[in-house]
Amino acid sequence: MSAIAKLSLPDGQYLELPVLTGTANEKAIDISKLRKKTGYITLDPGFVNTGTCESAITFLDGENGILQFRGYPIEQLAAESTFLEVAYLLIHGELPDKTQLYNFVERVSLHAMIHEDMRHFFDGFSQNAHPMVILSSMISSLSAYYVEASGKASIEDLEINSARLIAKVTTIAAFAYKKSVGQPFVYPRDELSYCANFLNMMFAVPAEPYELDPEIERTLELLLILHADHEQNCSASTVRVVGSSMANVYASVASGILALWGPLHGGANQQVVQMLQQIHEDGGGISKYIEMAKNQNSEFRLMGFGHRVYKNFDPRAKILKVVCDRVLNKLGVNDPLLEIALKLEKTALSDDYFIERKLYPTLDFYTGIIYRAIGIPVNMFTVMFALGRVPGWIAQWKEMHEDPKQKIARPRQLYVGQSERSYKPIAERL
Ligand code: ACO
Repeated sequence: MSAIAKLSLPDGQYLELPVLTGTANEKAIDISKLRKKTGYITLDPGFVNTGTCESAITFLDGENGILQFRGYPIEQLAAESTFLEVAYLLIHGELPDKTQLYNFVERVSLHAMIHEDMRHFFDGFSQNAHPMVILSSMISSLSAYYVEASGKASIEDLEINSARLIAKVTTIAAFAYKKSVGQPFVYPRDELSYCANFLNMMFAVPAEPYELDPEIERTLELLLILHADHEQNCSASTVRVVGSSMANVYASVASGILALWGPLHGGANQQVVQMLQQIHEDGGGISKYIEMAKNQNSEFRLMGFGHRVYKNFDPRAKILKVVCDRVLNKLGVNDPLLEIALKLEKTALSDDYFIERKLYPTLDFYTGIIYRAIGIPVNMFTVMFALGRVPGWIAQWKEMHEDPKQKIARPRQLYVGQSERSYKPIAERL
């Protein structure tokens, strides 16, 4: 017999609730019948204690710093795999065999071009529009071209829709960058690898070809793998919530992109480098900033530190710290921001404020420095995060639709406003 939790309510009601156990012995109390049986709801701002689904995609143990995609440790995937292989794994549940991978890679490379009419959409944005807005709008606009991709029906078409999304997001991202620097768009080339093609679209110009550096290509591959999924975070939950209304996969992913943009989520990578730059311009001293971060009356936070789930070193940050050193060395980049970052990290990790609150550096703490070293401009950092996260969002969207227990997302609230009162004509209002 499965375990039960016993709930005794103040009005004398008593309820037994099933306790579910996850693969790693995680426990969850199933409250899905709570309101129906008792009239009570639960209150959990920020969903800190709330599981919204059962998922078989990503396992994250924040206390022990463990991250696995479909059971494979992130360290192994980072060392051995390619981004498209990881994308296949997340979406399909298993690593592809040779033929499956060949077909998947080919399908993605065949879909990198966007409809020529979409080129003109870029003209409508101002040159300094943030590329995340452009990215989200363009991904949403794909719904207008692939009208068959409506809600649940598109699960059958997900093979093609996921290839389109994974492919076109790189083209759109690169075009958004070209728009921001006033350069002509560079079209995708099928013969290039996924990362090489993106780098070429970003950095080639008609006047001269782009010379691909294999070190940069491999680093980008690794960065995309590390960002590929992270279970039920703000943007993945957004994709699921939007998708639960039967919105199509393009609209759902476009919403995820906007959720990712916020500085407390994916936007943190841009904020980290801006913070490091500010400290650098301020003379490089960190103590003032550490004190500001600890001051509860100050809004300043040490960006790239702290995570809702990780209460230990983020395993992705561990990998990136090593990569950061390697890439900077190999490319001969001497970045003063790295020095500041390492000082901040060392000080914070030995400071009681951060120790007590279990605030460790996350992957965002290092990605900015690596992006800078490989030539990605600051306002594209969160776009880079989005490129990596697309397969994860697709996998979450698909899993949500395939789960017979899922319903349209519609949380409840505890109303604490005015009780009923009568309308007063404006002349009688004070
Ligand atoms: N600097 C200083 N203090 C911090 C920081 C930080 N970066 N992060 C958390 N704290 C403090 C809070 O002030 C709070 O202190 P208190 O208990 O004395 O009130 C305590 O640590 C707990 O923080 P919460 O905000 O309650 O934790 P929550 O889980 O809600 O927030 C979050 C997590 C949003 C990531 C937070 O740590 C933060 O703002 N970090 C900086 C932004 C950032 O780097 N975000 C990227 C996250 S990773 C990602 O999404 C890709």
